Amino acid sequence: MNNPDPQFNQFNKLHHFLSIDGLDKATLTHILDTAEGFTSVNDKAIKNVPLLRGKTVANLFFENSTRTRTAFELAAKRLSADTLNIDLVSSSTKKGESLLDTLRVLEALQSDMFVVRHSDSGAANFIARHVSPSINIINGGDGQHAHPTQAMLDMFTIRRYKGSFENLIVVIIGDIRHSRVARSGIGALITLGVAQVRVVGPQTLMPADVESLGVVVYQDMDLALADADVVMGLRLQNERMTSATIPSTGEFYQTYGLTPARMKLAKPDAIVMHPGPTNRGVEIAASVADGKQSVILNQVTYGIAVRMAVMSIIMGHGEEVRIAEANQA
Ligand code: NCD
Repeated sequence: MNNPDPQFNQFNKLHHFLSIDGLDKATLTHILDTAEGFTSVNDKAIKNVPLLRGKTVANLFFENSTRTRTAFELAAKRLSADTLNIDLVSSSTKKGESLLDTLRVLEALQSDMFVVRHSDSGAANFIARHVSPSINIINGGDGQHAHPTQAMLDMFTIRRYKGSFENLIVVIIGDIRHSRVARSGIGALITLGVAQVRVVGPQTLMPADVESLGVVVYQDMDLALADADVVMGLRLQNERMTSATIPSTGEFYQTYGLTPARMKLAKPDAIVMHPGPTNRGVEIAASVADGKQSVILNQVTYGIAVRMAVMSIIMGHGEEVRIAEANQA
């Protein structure tokens, strides 16, 4: 039977990576295990493996990004793919070319995979529906909807430091409402079976449906941090706030800033995460961002191996051959 999830093809194989929703624990674990294998590649002097030799990966960034775009580019290069970086913020779409026309041109240039970042929620799904079925799409962050590779690199980081997910209390702080990182992260944490996901922040920065995500909602930072194993900060997404949803950044820091004093409430071996870019003195103290418990830069490094894993899995390295063999048998 065909899987109704648009991420899967008719062979029930993961073909696009658009969202954490619809993926089961085995799929997420397979991505983490595959990434584990690629970390050893990244530690070697020669960091390339030939898995995607001859393939072309086009980075379609309709929204500015340095860290995510660079990590995707490095991941593709380490898999020996050719890479195209198309600066769509300032190019043809500005000249009036429609998104679909731009996609047709990139198809004609014979790209095999598009990594898409866009400020509209649903953009990656839209593109996946409209491109030729041979092209794989990875969502590199769409509006407030999803950022699934960020979620997977966060899961990878947590597993690296904590070993497993079962007994963990994970706290996500701040602007949950505008955060695709939080949405995808919560989905992955719940699928992987953590003990509890807590979200804490002002009510104005909570999504309307927050409880339905399966989290416990706190308004009080000190209560939320008690006994936490993983503490995840988020950037205040000023560009996505349509009205004055918080009084001032100074006030936000007073009430929800991740300070050394507050970190003492979490478990002594708790790790501090943040997807970046960080606003020091707004959501996190510089001494916490740079402190002993911070794994923020490790997240960036692991992002390469995790993206290598996602790219090689959806490109079906070896998988097509096995399907063809199975069909012949
Ligand atoms: C995040 C994003 O763009 O969604 N950053 C990232 O991917 N490195 C988080 C953010 O912008 O705050």
